[in-house]
Amino acid sequence: MFSGSLRGRLLWWLLLPLAAFVSISGVISYRFAQTNADLVQDNALLSSMRIIGEDVDWANGTVSIQVPPAALELFESPEQDSVFYRVEASGHRLLAGMPDLPLPPHVGDSPKLYVTHLADGRAVRAVAYMRQLYDSGRNEEVVVAVAKTERSRDAMVWRLLRPQLFGEVLTLVLAMVFVYLGLTFELRPLMKVKDDVADRNPSELEPIRVTRLHVELRPIVDAINQCIARMGQQAATQRQFISDAAHQLRTPLALLLAQIQFARQRDNRDVPLAEALAGMHKSSRKLTTLTNKLLLLAQAESPAPSGEHERVDLSALIAGVLEELIAFAQSREIDLGAELEDGLSVAGDEALTAALVTNLVDNALRYTQPGGRVTVQTQRRDDMAVVRVIDNGPGISAQARERVFERFYRASSHAEGTGLGLPIVREIAHRQGGTIRLESNEEGAGLVATVEMRLWAGATRDVAQSVE
Ligand SMILES: Nc1ncnc2c1ncn2[C@@H]1O[C@H](COP(=O)(O)OP(=O)(O)O)[C@@H](O)[C@H]1O
Ligand SMILES: [Mg+2]
Repeated sequence: MFSGSLRGRLLWWLLLPLAAFVSISGVISYRFAQTNADLVQDNALLSSMRIIGEDVDWANGTVSIQVPPAALELFESPEQDSVFYRVEASGHRLLAGMPDLPLPPHVGDSPKLYVTHLADGRAVRAVAYMRQLYDSGRNEEVVVAVAKTERSRDAMVWRLLRPQLFGEVLTLVLAMVFVYLGLTFELRPLMKVKDDVADRNPSELEPIRVTRLHVELRPIVDAINQCIARMGQQAATQRQFISDAAHQLRTPLALLLAQIQFARQRDNRDVPLAEALAGMHKSSRKLTTLTNKLLLLAQAESPAPSGEHERVDLSALIAGVLEELIAFAQSREIDLGAELEDGLSVAGDEALTAALVTNLVDNALRYTQPGGRVTVQTQRRDDMAVVRVIDNGPGISAQARERVFERFYRASSHAEGTGLGLPIVREIAHRQGGTIRLESNEEGAGLVATVEMRLWAGATRDVAQSVE
């Protein structure tokens, strides 16, 4: 589950050595606790053995013993271990205790510690020694052994070990939690870079700017930025090429058109030649339109120099566009009208904004049937200016609407056109921080093209003044 995640992998890198460390140190702690517990237990056994040994004495010519309670009180503990002892005089004569408590092979003067099992299988820890008793020439060898079960010793091991283990496991858990949280926190700049890159539209070629970036991540972002810059240069070179090519074509095209026109004006009785010239005239006009549109598209695609825009008075601009198109509207018998809100200015490029409106109105006039109606509306909505071009023509089908922004796509074949009008409109709208939307007319037939563009920042003041 962790294999693909940096966080997971780092956790593993930390978890494995830390777990190894905890295990090893756990084993060491366990041994240490055992040694200590044994030491404490053995001391008690030795003391008890000595107390019992000291109490063996002569009475009426033989050795005997009265085991003192103090010798056994030493072992009192909450775990209630069972304690056994065995005191024997020479010749295996049992003086006190349990006769079948096993003894070590050789019991000597110095106490001998050992571990053994009782007849019922219980393990006991024991100590034994031999004491020589002399009395008027007689000598008795008294063996004293004391044993106890290991319950309190095991409990002590656990008591010694517990805080140690708890501390180590806690360290392990805390380390994991902190690494997880720390990484989540520290990866945030990287996530910001991701969001920045993911949210971009393809034409946005600004470098990624992230404040507070780790030294380790900087080379990555720098590399991405260099790549973006190269892509930007590439795109700019392409735009420049199209723009230059269109420019270069314009002059010979204009010349060609003028020459064809000149040829057509000559009194020419040759009908086929006249027809050929008319065809050439039409083609070269188409070519001129296409060249102009390509040039316009290249301009619309190139970002505003240093991102600055000029103030464009919408009403004046639209009035100018409509004036130019009124003849075309009349030729198509279309009622061309405008409903403009006063004092709207947008931030953009005047020539491009004019091209945007021209293209939309041109489409509406071109595709609406004679007798139709085309209206240009402007409206203010929050900090946006809304421009609507409404017609009652055939509209665009839903599936064609998805594609009309593709370059050279045309939904109709009958009228002349290039398929570049709407792509140009969209590029201009985006260049000016705006959007374009195509909807069908509320009345059912026709198209509503809605463009929203950012208002000029001083527009509020202008409107207030115009109201006064
Ligand atoms: N107002 C409109 N009414 C109906 N169809 C339209 C309208 N505007 C555009 N279209 C359709 O969208 C297509 C693409 O338009 P455009 O990009 O301007 O290219 P062009 O006008 O050169 O064909 C047109 O071919 C036309 O079919
Ligand atoms: Mg068009």
